[in-house]
Order: sequence, then C-alpha cells, then structure tokens
Amino acid sequence: MSAPKPQPSIMGIDPYVGGEADIPGWDRVIKLASNEGAFGPSPKAIEAFKELAGTLHRYPDGSCGELRRAIGERHGLDPEHIVCGAGSDELIGLLSQSYAGSGDEVLHSHHGFLMYPISAMATGATPVAAPETNLTADVDALLDHVTQRTRILFVANPNNPTGTYLSDAEMRRLRAGLRDDILLVVDAAYADYVERDDYQAGDELVHSGDNVVMTQTFSKIHGMGGLRLGWAYCPAAVANVLNRVRGPFNVNAAAAAAGIVAIGDTEFTERVRLHNKEWRAWTRDELVKLGLSVTDSVGNFLLVCFGDVPGRNAEAADTFLKERGIIVRRMTAYHLSQCLRITIGLEDEMRAVIGALAAFLGSNK
Ligand SMILES: Cc1ncc(COP(=O)(O)O)c(C=O)c1O
Repeated sequence: MSAPKPQPSIMGIDPYVGGEADIPGWDRVIKLASNEGAFGPSPKAIEAFKELAGTLHRYPDGSCGELRRAIGERHGLDPEHIVCGAGSDELIGLLSQSYAGSGDEVLHSHHGFLMYPISAMATGATPVAAPETNLTADVDALLDHVTQRTRILFVANPNNPTGTYLSDAEMRRLRAGLRDDILLVVDAAYADYVERDDYQAGDELVHSGDNVVMTQTFSKIHGMGGLRLGWAYCPAAVANVLNRVRGPFNVNAAAAAAGIVAIGDTEFTERVRLHNKEWRAWTRDELVKLGLSVTDSVGNFLLVCFGDVPGRNAEAADTFLKERGIIVRRMTAYHLSQCLRITIGLEDEMRAVIGALAAFLGSNK
C-alpha cells in the first residue's frame, strides 16, 4: 500500500508540548508554566479587541500598516523594516523555511528555545546545538560550531528557559565572528523585562549589517499569548523575503487591533515590568534560601534546579506542586531534567509556590 509521505525529517520532530493549563479535580489552578504576562493584557487592549467584534466579517489589513507604525513609533524603528506574524513562532518558522533547507545546518545553543530545532527539521535542515557555559549561550562555542553548511544561527536573548543573557558586547562579538551569508536571528521575546545596562535587544545589531534579524512578541509583557502576535525587525532584503512567504492575512484583525493599543500603553507595560522585577527578586531569594539552585534570570521566569535524590528531585517537586493546584514547567525536553521553570505571576501565586516548595523540602516556612 502506498500512502502520502511527508518530507523525511518531519517524522523525526518531537512535537512542541506547551505548558499544561488544567489539573484534573481542580477548578482553578495557579498556572506558572508558559511565561504568560502576570496581569494579562492591558485593559485598553481588551477594549480594542471587544470593539472589533462587529466587523469580524472583514479581512484584516494584510500589510499590518497601522500596527507596524505603532511598533515603529514605540521602539524608534522604521516600519518598512518590520514584518508581523502570528506569534514570533510563525516568524521563526518562516525564517527557517526561507533561509535553510535539506543539507543545511541551523545552529542554536544547547538549552535554546525548542522552536529552533523544530523549525529547522520542518524545513529538512539539521539542527546543531553548541554547548553552553553556566547555562548561558557561549559565543566561542557557537562560533566553533559554524560550518560551511550553517545557514542560520538562532539566539534567544535573554534565553528561555535559562533566563540568562548575552551582553551587547558579546552579541557584537558573535555577529563579527559570523560569515556574512549566515542569518543571525536575535529572539528578543523577553527584552522588555531586562534591566541591565550592558544589554541591547538587538535592533542596533540589525542596523550593523544585512544578516541580522530581531524578533519580538506580544505574548509576554503585553500578555496577549492567546491572540498570537509577534514581529520581526529586518534588513530590507529579509523583510522582502518574509513578505513573499507569509500568508496574505497572517495576522488576524483582533490581534492587530489589540496590538496597536497594547504597544502604546507604556504605563501598563511599565507596571508589569516593575511587578516582575520585584517578584522575580523575591522569589529567587526565597528559592535560594530553600537551598535550591536558581539562574540569575532577567526574564519573567526562573529556572530552578533540584538534586537527583529520588523523592526530592524535580519530578517529585512537580508532582507535589500539582497536588496543590500549581502548574510549573518540567524541563526534560530542554535537557534539564532536574530543573523546573517557574513563571513570575501575581504576588499570591508566588507566595503559594514558595510555600508549597518549602513544604516539599520539609522546611518550616
Ligand atoms: C524565546 C522565545 N521565543 C519565541 C517564543 C514564541 O512566542 P510567540 O508566542 O510570539 O510565538 C517564546 C515563547 O515562549 C519564547 O520563549
């Protein structure tokens, strides 16, 4: 019997598994598994979303003109060099599909975001992982893993799930060490949470040549993961390519309408950032006091690592938390089987997760 066969590399992909949202037997859970913004979307963005309900029969503006202008105004970027997508996931996929294929290599760091190897394999390319140092991307290791077949290098800065980042100087050193025909994709999904003087989101690097793209998302600080909206800031030639391969209406009207308002509501994003700063520091301190090892995350999440003693390891901690209605993220798919990733949520959610972990570890918190 013959049957349609997918491209050979496709069946080698382990499908991406998102954070769980429910626990059987619990009506309301504390969900800290997907790095969603703690406060949800800006109330003004919710209003814009609702107002759209009466015109849902209309196709959206396929060029996302107003949205690109709003993003450009907020970040001081030329809208002509911005391409919007249904989440930055879509843009990562389109970049892989456009610049890599069978026989090519797509480079990323060992604990890099999973969509990089997945999108590479979806195009028939081979993902190549370079080792990290102290759970941080290592510029020398990345450059050492470049071969004649490398077409794209994806770097999340800061990275998910480690929360660590590379300084502007390190990113410039990385760019300078790459051949000009390799596309460097700087995934800045968590850029708005970073408060370090030596950090730059990536737009300045885009200006430095023709082979750097920066992606950002509305799923994190803007709290709009459910609407699927992201954007790429690109050299003109890359924007031209993305505009050829994307669907003509890849961003839906509701996402665009809410996004235009969300990106302009800087008061809201500032409140989210300050909340994240306060509760990330508090949660990290409490975890360290419990004797756990925690990366110095600059994002809206913490990577917490346990020992491998049965009954006290990451799997046991995850089960213990679930029994108390708290969902965090196991990290086995990221080769970090003894770690959990915990999103920074609301104050009571962070107090609940710390209380539960203290009970798990037998501390009298
Ligand atoms: C580093 C990184 N890049 C991209 C994404 C995808 O974001 P989006 O919701 O815009 O597709 C995520 C989502 O978790 C992420 O962590």
